[in-house]
Amino acid sequence: MTNLVGRTAIVTGAARGLGRTYAQKLLEAGMNVVAADKADVAETLDRMYGPGKTLGISVDVADFRSVSAMADKALAAFGRVDVLVNNAALYGGLKGGRAEQIEEAEWDRCMAVNVKGVWNCCRAVIPAMRKQGGGSIVNVASLAAIYGLPYALHYSASKAAVIGITRALARELGRDSIRVNAIAPTAVLTEGTKEFFGAKFEKGMVAIRENQALKRNLETEDLAGTVIYLAGDASKFVTGQTIMVDGGTHFL
Ligand SMILES: NC(=O)c1ccc[n+]([C@@H]2O[C@H](COP(=O)([O-])OP(=O)(O)OC[C@H]3O[C@@H](n4cnc5c(N)ncnc54)[C@H](O)[C@@H]3O)[C@@H](O)[C@H]2O)c1
Repeated sequence: MTNLVGRTAIVTGAARGLGRTYAQKLLEAGMNVVAADKADVAETLDRMYGPGKTLGISVDVADFRSVSAMADKALAAFGRVDVLVNNAALYGGLKGGRAEQIEEAEWDRCMAVNVKGVWNCCRAVIPAMRKQGGGSIVNVASLAAIYGLPYALHYSASKAAVIGITRALARELGRDSIRVNAIAPTAVLTEGTKEFFGAKFEKGMVAIRENQALKRNLETEDLAGTVIYLAGDASKFVTGQTIMVDGGTHFL
């Protein structure tokens, strides 16, 4: 994807898991990559290799002032923001539970990070993307939004909101040549997944793969290809879409 060479991407939630993989793959594709997270991104930066430059930024996506500072630092370092991957979310660490038992504070925090966080990051980079003549925003939704994950009502609702944001923003920003798409992955092994599923992890992964057309579990690298596709010019006439990366669990 040579058209990504020399362009700049911000990846939120890049301290571990899928965000770290997206950051690495975009760097390999020749981009300058901002790895942003509330947690320390030092390990991610240490492991990243590729032709582009890297910058680590501490950010809380739920806090617009922090997000705005992130966008300013990215622009100061690289002069433009071509791609935003809205990957940060509360996922690992969520307790979940029956609908009537989910803690209200956890519900609110889930919405603040997973929904408002996406809006915050979009609104921080839209002016720069508009000024430079376009860009690509890739939002990370989840199969949970489409399938309806029991005992995770807040998480499912937050990811459904990400799909709504994707569609509304795509219509709003099309005239500025800013594309907005989403990916909806099934479960993949990350620290977050182990925390999320706990002791039910192995059983859950077997059930998930049995329900897929493709009979293996998703791997992190499977997702990176879709992110690269949506980031670059190969998808230049694609916007407002949610791509299921779920081995054929759900057909949109
Ligand atoms: N792993 C899966 O099976 C799976 C499936 C579908 C969708 N997803 C989505 O993919 C994304 C990444 O998943 P993961 O498994 O790597 O998750 P993870 O829990 O391992 O990592 C999430 C990252 O986001 C960061 N983060 C959390 N709150 C933040 C905040 N307020 N500001 C900035 N950063 C913050 C965390 O520090 C962490 O590094 C999430 O959006 C998740 O909902 C994951």
